[in-house]
Amino acid sequence: MEVFETVASLRAGLAGRGPVVLVPTMGNLHEGHLDLVRLARRHGRTVAASIFVNRLQFAPNEDFDRYPRTFAPDCEKLGAVGADVLFAPDEREVYPEPQGFKVEPSEIGQFLEGEFRPGFFRGVATVVLKLLAIVQPQVAVFGKKDYQQLRVVQAMVRQFNLATEIVAGETIRADDGLALSSRNGYLSPTERAEAVRLYRTLARVRDRLLAGGADVVDLEQSATRDLAEHGWKPDYVAVRRQADLTPPSAADRDLVVLGAARLGGTRLIDNIEFRR
Ligand code: PAF
Repeated sequence: MEVFETVASLRAGLAGRGPVVLVPTMGNLHEGHLDLVRLARRHGRTVAASIFVNRLQFAPNEDFDRYPRTFAPDCEKLGAVGADVLFAPDEREVYPEPQGFKVEPSEIGQFLEGEFRPGFFRGVATVVLKLLAIVQPQVAVFGKKDYQQLRVVQAMVRQFNLATEIVAGETIRADDGLALSSRNGYLSPTERAEAVRLYRTLARVRDRLLAGGADVVDLEQSATRDLAEHGWKPDYVAVRRQADLTPPSAADRDLVVLGAARLGGTRLIDNIEFRR
């Protein structure tokens, strides 16, 4: 695997390599990321991963400084799973001057995560647009674990007529069901054992909706209450349409239940797609 730290060297290194598939990451790679790399391999000749912890998507009170940076093991993992190229720029390379132009997400970025993490999707969309402009991939792969992020990126690509196709990768879970996430590393052993409750709570909402007769808002409220009763600080549990994350009508079939909650000092998110 070839590692590039500058835009110029990356572009020179990619020239003549054929269609590129990009897997953007912030590093601290786990099996979920590696699965996206494997998926990328099925979509193009050259698989490029990027590692860049994007300050722009962190609020001042969030974990930018303590976000785990594990460059050497990340490189080993990417090499082992067959990535061809790694783009690992520093902040000066990505933001050589203050980033005055920013991408303001449309309505799809304003609620759920957009409400509880103001500015988050502006930061994500801005860096993703930059990465797509730098790498110019034919395909870019994003995980469904960050479901709203995936929808925001898809909407941005559509509305700006970008030439990159966005491919979605499935969420990878630990044996007990907890979605793999770099932030799981912040959990104490006791919190780690409790963390699976988020997934189980969302699964219960799905199962009750599939059983029929249950009211969506009642289910959302009782799921939120249940998390709070077990020591979580829930931001939301919400059943939404898969396509645009707006609240469903009775006729909508393709749904997703999303949740975000804080366990101790760690904020976890998860979601489950289902069809009713
Ligand atoms: O999902 C992530 O790791 C980040 O939000 C992304 C897409 C790499 C942008 O910084």
